Amino acid sequence: MKTSITVSAPGKLMLLGEHAVVYGRPCIVTAVNQRMKAIVELIGEPTFQLEAPDVNITGYQKPMSELGKGDIPKGAKFVEIAVKNFLASQSTSEVKKIHLGGVKITTTSEFSSQFGFGSSSASTVCTIKALSEITGASLDNKAIFDLSYKTVLDIQGKGSGFDVAAAIFGGTLYYVIPGKIIESLKTDSLPLIVGYSGIKTDTAILINQVLEKAKKYPEVIENIYDSIGKLVEQAKKAVLSKNWQTLGKLMNFNEGYLSTLGVEGKKLADMIYAARDAGAYGAKLSGAGIRDCMIALAPKNKTQAVKDGITSAGGQVIDIKANVEGVGIEYG
Ligand code: PMV
Repeated sequence: MKTSITVSAPGKLMLLGEHAVVYGRPCIVTAVNQRMKAIVELIGEPTFQLEAPDVNITGYQKPMSELGKGDIPKGAKFVEIAVKNFLASQSTSEVKKIHLGGVKITTTSEFSSQFGFGSSSASTVCTIKALSEITGASLDNKAIFDLSYKTVLDIQGKGSGFDVAAAIFGGTLYYVIPGKIIESLKTDSLPLIVGYSGIKTDTAILINQVLEKAKKYPEVIENIYDSIGKLVEQAKKAVLSKNWQTLGKLMNFNEGYLSTLGVEGKKLADMIYAARDAGAYGAKLSGAGIRDCMIALAPKNKTQAVKDGITSAGGQVIDIKANVEGVGIEYG
């Protein structure tokens, strides 16, 4: 049995379909080349150790028998519960060795956990993939998805799992909860420009705000979800045929619906309009909304102008490549 393994998983950006995806409509997500890395080592003493300096966790340890118990610091939750869920799901002798022998996990990220690139989901996926490989359990991607998504739900209680799917499968995905459809869309790297507006608003809070609206105006909001679902179907075709102009238009439609749901946010809106004014095919927020990231799709000759527009609206441009590979072993 190996004693150490390193895996990495990509971050993600929602292209279209946020919020509606929580209520069964499809979304499209792309994996980005800002990766989370986890080194998993078998240490020969029955403790769980975690180093995650990017989220302020250093020297964290507890007995394996205490996994998931007590007050777990925010930065340690996803990795710790991922280990607990993986061990609970397996019963091979190799896995039992981890119960007895303990494990040390070190995570590092190429991106700030403040960007909504899905650092929690990516570290969950890295942990489960690494444990699956080091114990010889060799789970397939769907099994890794199910365990990772369960872990995220155990902690957050809410979420569609689109970020988990992106971290595992990579590429650009058409996704329906709870992993009912995870379809890889064969396409090129999309000409995406990303602008960051400021620290993310908690996703669960925004999901709840939209839910409150849906309780008050059920028919109106259900219709919006349906319309978002329909535009995602058209966007899927546009992604497959690499028709960025049409995809941009559909992104603009999607933004209108997100504005109606109340999650647009003034600064994001300014950045989105600036990107469109500078010649983008389309622009919208990406993720739960209010703050965090917006995305724009732009022709090559307008890229710089769109970036300048986003910057002059107060945003920070983040350079990324979209449609990159999913979780994988780096060495070990
Ligand atoms: O802001 P993020 O990256 O957590 O994205 C949230 C997207 C939602 O559709 C609002 C929630 C979800 O889990 O799909």
